[in-house]
Amino acid sequence: MQSRVSSFEDLKDSSHTGLRAPQPRVFPMMMLKILLAFLALGFVGFSGFSLYVTRHIGLRSAVARGAAVFRPSCIDESPALDRWIRPPSNLMHSMSDEELFWRASWVPQVKRYPFKRLPRIAFMFLTRGPLPLSPLWEKFFKGHDERYSIYVHSLPSYEANFTSTSVFYHRQIPSKVSEWGQMSMCDAERRLLANALLDLSNEWFVLLSESCIPLLHFNITYQYLIRSRYSFVGATDDPGPFGRGRYNPDMAPEVSIEQWRKGSQWFGVNRKVAVSIVKDTYYYPKFEKFCRPHCYVDEHYFSTMLFIESPNLLANRSLTWVDWSRGGAHPATFGRNDITEAFLKRIVRGRNCSYNDQPSSICYLFARKFAPSSLEPLLQLGPTLLGFG
Ligand SMILES: *[C@@H]1O[C@H](CO)[C@@H](O)[C@H](O)[C@H]1NC(C)=O
Ligand SMILES: *[C@@H]1O[C@H](CO)[C@@H](O)[C@H](O)[C@H]1NC(C)=O
Ligand SMILES: *[C@@H]1O[C@H](CO)[C@@H](O)[C@H](O)[C@H]1NC(C)=O
Ligand SMILES: *[C@@H]1O[C@H](CO)[C@@H](O)[C@H](O)[C@H]1NC(C)=O
Repeated sequence: MQSRVSSFEDLKDSSHTGLRAPQPRVFPMMMLKILLAFLALGFVGFSGFSLYVTRHIGLRSAVARGAAVFRPSCIDESPALDRWIRPPSNLMHSMSDEELFWRASWVPQVKRYPFKRLPRIAFMFLTRGPLPLSPLWEKFFKGHDERYSIYVHSLPSYEANFTSTSVFYHRQIPSKVSEWGQMSMCDAERRLLANALLDLSNEWFVLLSESCIPLLHFNITYQYLIRSRYSFVGATDDPGPFGRGRYNPDMAPEVSIEQWRKGSQWFGVNRKVAVSIVKDTYYYPKFEKFCRPHCYVDEHYFSTMLFIESPNLLANRSLTWVDWSRGGAHPATFGRNDITEAFLKRIVRGRNCSYNDQPSSICYLFARKFAPSSLEPLLQLGPTLLGFG
């Protein structure tokens, strides 16, 4: 306190040390009055001026702020509900996966849509490059524009060359390299789901590959999905080496061995289940870290996660027929000579299963794996056997 000039006492002291100029001893009364009058005038003048400055400039800056905030919104954004329900006009975007999954996980809390919504089915093609069976799919989709959307995820190096009349034209989404059995495959599937979720009209989400074919008329396929109470995800408890044998105890406590499930990666899920897949950050790190090569994460991640979170929403079966009867690591592939009337009839109605808790003879809507050479006979048999083409 004493070493610094920081108080009134210090200043008083400093006058004693001669730092202040000595005051004149005599100060005439008249001069004092004039000085006071000038001071008073000056004060009034200054106050008026500063009031003016504050009001004027303050108001001007408020006007400027108003222009910056409100004016563009009147021009760019429709004041109607439409701007919140319109799907993106261009599927290409520059969002990162993190940004995309965050945006895609938005869910309205009011369950009733305040507008007429015709639900669509999102057909999501996970491919390497070309879609050799696209002519068959074009015939399947023809005339049903209002009730489906298409999304294609291919290798980033592949450039699709569909013409503007194709249903696949401009339906490619921003893609990354994905490898079978790796987490990058699940990433690609979540990317497809997330992009499809951005369109509010999509209600069902079906994952397909370039070797998949449709088995029934579009209308049957549509009704089968729209009316289903359950999502089509396989979730079996396989005690063998390719089931529980792939479980890693480091996944506990998020995933126990009793909860470990297996299912085909070719799912068909409703919007609610699609959102729970896209928003997951709880199970993902465990699968990414501990379901490594020879675990085949794409056969376990969604099945196990959904079995733990919402088992009562699952049909516990796939919609996509495949033939494992020949044995080995890969299912059978069918080419030109396999495609006969008897073969297709057997796939379409060769089994009984449960649909909405009732017995059903329609169990599969799609089938794989079909080689490019199967296209021609499929196009020939399609109109009579599959109801389209
Ligand atoms: C697209 O490219 C492939 C070869 O990459 C070719 O076989 C096909 O005919 C092309 N399709 C169109 C519509 O140009
Ligand atoms: C398919 O459904 C649409 C819409 O309900 C209908 O207009 C069309 O006639 C149906 N087609 C067939 C072949 O049943
Ligand atoms: C699928 O399995 C789960 C768990 O075992 C069960 O809760 C659910 O009811 C099953 N779904 C159907 C459609 O039977
Ligand atoms: C399916 O069920 C029906 C009636 O219950 C039966 O006649 C038919 O043989 C069954 N089909 C198969 C493939 O099991």
